[in-house]
Amino acid sequence: MSSETQHREPRIDQFLSGPGARVDRWRELLDVAAAWSSGTTSRAKFETALAELSILEEFFGYPGPRMLAALQESAAADDARTTLRMVRGIAAALATRSFQRELDVDQANEGDSVPDLMPPALGKGGRRRPYFETLIVTEVPAANWPALAAEWRNLRRPLDAFIYEPVFVASFEDAFCAIMLNPAIAAVVVNEGFEFRSRHDVPVLRTLSASMNEHESSGTSTLRLAHVLKRVRPELDIYLLSNHRVEEMAGNPKANVARRIFYAVEELLELHLAILEGVQDRFETPFFDNMKKYAQRPIGTFHALPIARGKSIFKSDWIRDMGEFYGETLFLAESSATTGGLDSLLEPTGNIKKAQQMAARAFGADHVFFVTNGTSTSNKMAVQALIAPGDIVIVDRNCHKSHHYGFVLGGAQPLYVEAFPMTEYSMYGAVPLRTIKQALLNLRAEGRLDRVKMVDLTNCTFDGHIYNTRRVMEECLAIKPDLIFLWDEAWFGFARFSPFLRPRTAMGAANEIEACLREPQALTNYEKQRSELGADPSDDALLNTRLVPDPRQVRLRVYQTNSTHKSMSALRQGSMLLVKDVDFHTVEAQFHEAVFTHASTSPNQQLIASLDVARRQMELEGFGLVANAIEVAFAIRQAVARNPLITKYFHILGADEMVPAAYRQSGFSDYLSEGVNWGSILKSLHEDEFCLDPTRITLVCGTAGFDGTQFKGLLASRYNIQLNKTSRNSVLLQSNINNTRSDVAHLIRVLMEISREIDQRLAQGGANVRKTFEDRVKSLMSDVPDLPNFSQFHDAFRGDAGERTNEGDIRAGFYSAYDAVGCEYIRLADAEIDRRLQQGPELVSANFVIPYPPGFPIMVPGQVLTRETIDFMRKLDVKEIHGYDASEGLKLVRPEALAALFGAEKKSKRVKPATQTNTTEKTAGE
Ligand SMILES: Cc1ncc(COP(=O)(O)O)c(C=O)c1O
Repeated sequence: MSSETQHREPRIDQFLSGPGARVDRWRELLDVAAAWSSGTTSRAKFETALAELSILEEFFGYPGPRMLAALQESAAADDARTTLRMVRGIAAALATRSFQRELDVDQANEGDSVPDLMPPALGKGGRRRPYFETLIVTEVPAANWPALAAEWRNLRRPLDAFIYEPVFVASFEDAFCAIMLNPAIAAVVVNEGFEFRSRHDVPVLRTLSASMNEHESSGTSTLRLAHVLKRVRPELDIYLLSNHRVEEMAGNPKANVARRIFYAVEELLELHLAILEGVQDRFETPFFDNMKKYAQRPIGTFHALPIARGKSIFKSDWIRDMGEFYGETLFLAESSATTGGLDSLLEPTGNIKKAQQMAARAFGADHVFFVTNGTSTSNKMAVQALIAPGDIVIVDRNCHKSHHYGFVLGGAQPLYVEAFPMTEYSMYGAVPLRTIKQALLNLRAEGRLDRVKMVDLTNCTFDGHIYNTRRVMEECLAIKPDLIFLWDEAWFGFARFSPFLRPRTAMGAANEIEACLREPQALTNYEKQRSELGADPSDDALLNTRLVPDPRQVRLRVYQTNSTHKSMSALRQGSMLLVKDVDFHTVEAQFHEAVFTHASTSPNQQLIASLDVARRQMELEGFGLVANAIEVAFAIRQAVARNPLITKYFHILGADEMVPAAYRQSGFSDYLSEGVNWGSILKSLHEDEFCLDPTRITLVCGTAGFDGTQFKGLLASRYNIQLNKTSRNSVLLQSNINNTRSDVAHLIRVLMEISREIDQRLAQGGANVRKTFEDRVKSLMSDVPDLPNFSQFHDAFRGDAGERTNEGDIRAGFYSAYDAVGCEYIRLADAEIDRRLQQGPELVSANFVIPYPPGFPIMVPGQVLTRETIDFMRKLDVKEIHGYDASEGLKLVRPEALAALFGAEKKSKRVKPATQTNTTEKTAGE
């Protein structure tokens, strides 16, 4: 492979290259134009490069066919200087998006005029109207597209709130490629009569259209295309144009993917207005819009909110700087009102309600609750609303502490299931489906399946493990058809806007399951499997089969929480609770109680407004922004992997190191592995039990002699780089919709600098310096504590639990700590701990102990402590351990208090745990 193709291949053909790849393509053309202009390359080379690029450019409104033709003419006239000037202007206009303003004043596409190069927010005054592009799928030959485009542009009126350019394609494949490549497309008009095959025979496009998994033989109906487009980008408005049978089409339930159906093009202006209205529907932010109006009104407040209107701030000599810092609008918008255009978060009936309904549409849910105290609160609300005291919840022990506290508050009985461990990096993966199924089957064997109400999992995990949400839900529903699923997607809200990641989100999968269950095939599949498995299949048979649920029995009940503030443009603490539950009406009142329990009666208006605005942004530009975040992540991964100096000391864990081979059934290794292409990545996303979210990047720093906390501190103090969590020998970097390629460049420079310093230190220091370094690396990389599994609850807290499962009454355990006399403290290093471990009586934790990192509870209230837990605690070298004060020691429930609770006469029903620690399964190199 030539170095040129090596360089280009990942940008276009590889998975998920986003909008940045386009800017790169123009920059590459600019290099060729500059080389031609300076005489170091030929005109023919430039023309070939331009021809290649022009094919992909057909999918974009700017620079458009006329400007591209002008470029070609200029090249044909052998005018290298003008050509260079034009390419430079276009490349810069794309990078800064200044062309949008030019299009607004209708100057573009006039000959070779080159837009100015100011960044979008600057330049000529006046507010720029938001810009988008409309894809028009047509049978009209390409030669007529310029005339057609002129007709569309003629429809523009000064009153229009937005401005758009038309983009034409004439085939099914090209329509698909256009919406995949062009994030600016916000509406699609589908006329009848288009072809299936692309008019271009280009490998990049062929790879892309192969991923839609559609075949020419199935025909080219407008409806079929509409469904494919909507599957990939559900936020798009689709307009179907039919020359005949328009009423029949409108009556077809499958046509509900279209926003409107028109009879041919007799009403072009109507269509234009409908397109604008469709975008307006997404642009509208009911709460924020009212908030802005409210802030303009002269309002006197005689309420307990002195900060409102800002007078106490701006008149003060002492705190005016706060006003100057945040600006007066913040204070004009501060309000405690729930009337006068605003609404109540506790019982929304007006614009908050509408904003929540719009969020439900955007995220594929039936209902959404806005939450202003983070997903910590969303999780507690969901648990409280759905679980009654004594109900069993199958839950990942490593889930966020809000779930555990939710169980304490609600009296749920957690049945902890273990994630696969990544001991060498002191972190956990995700819970294998087999483990979850086994827990359900154990409960069934004990006749207590009716007690389990919920499966509660984190998707994706902190470190980026993504579940096969659809498979987990389908298989669990095959065992218990009315199970509720709570997916904590605190980190993963953005995934809704990536066609690749969406199917692995809670709502993406729930929508797919719902659609599949409606098909007659669902019952056939179920009955076929039932007859294959026989009347009384063994646990082994059930564990080894991909179970199919009975569509007649399933009650699909799916909840998702997301920290909107973690992955979208919401202010800190902005969170959403998403509902897709056929039985929601039966729990709706409980949800209102949960809101009343947890929501402040003085919720912050700015937070609510930011949730509304975050939804608007994701519906209008989420697709491109998420593609960009993924592209940035790949750029980091590639730059680190290719840099010989950085790779001496640092390493980013690939999917093969984060997910054991057993859970990568498709054989996928890593995004950057040789031979991996778009197809293999899609296969992995479709089939594998776990995938890695590419935007979550684990950088191993132990090999550079840093522990995670140390390295995080170094990056923050010396280089102003903030990062996410740490482990003993790694740090977690995360790309998001805010990152740019300049951020990547900064990070890579910093890693280079640190690597160079280490290199120099080792080269210039003596043997002792090198020995010290090696010892430190060895200690960080090999002397890692085993990760302890959850042991079990003490019998005193196991109520009526059976013998095969380990659920317990965490709430009783929690309140045992309130009995000061019934508790004791023993210091971790005390020999008494070892004596009790050997001879008893058992050590039982009185509270949560949550080391940060890793951030999950090493001990929960009522848990019996084992040697492994104690060893882990003793080896732990983190400073922040919630629930543990080293000078006091471990807080334990006294044996006498346990005896009083349990009753001496009761017989112990001990679970026989399979393994006490996760030492056997390793991830790396499997
Ligand atoms: C998996 C998970 N869920 C929930 C939360 C809590 O979210 P928030 O910070 O929005 O309260 C976190 C926070 O880190 C988390 O990691």
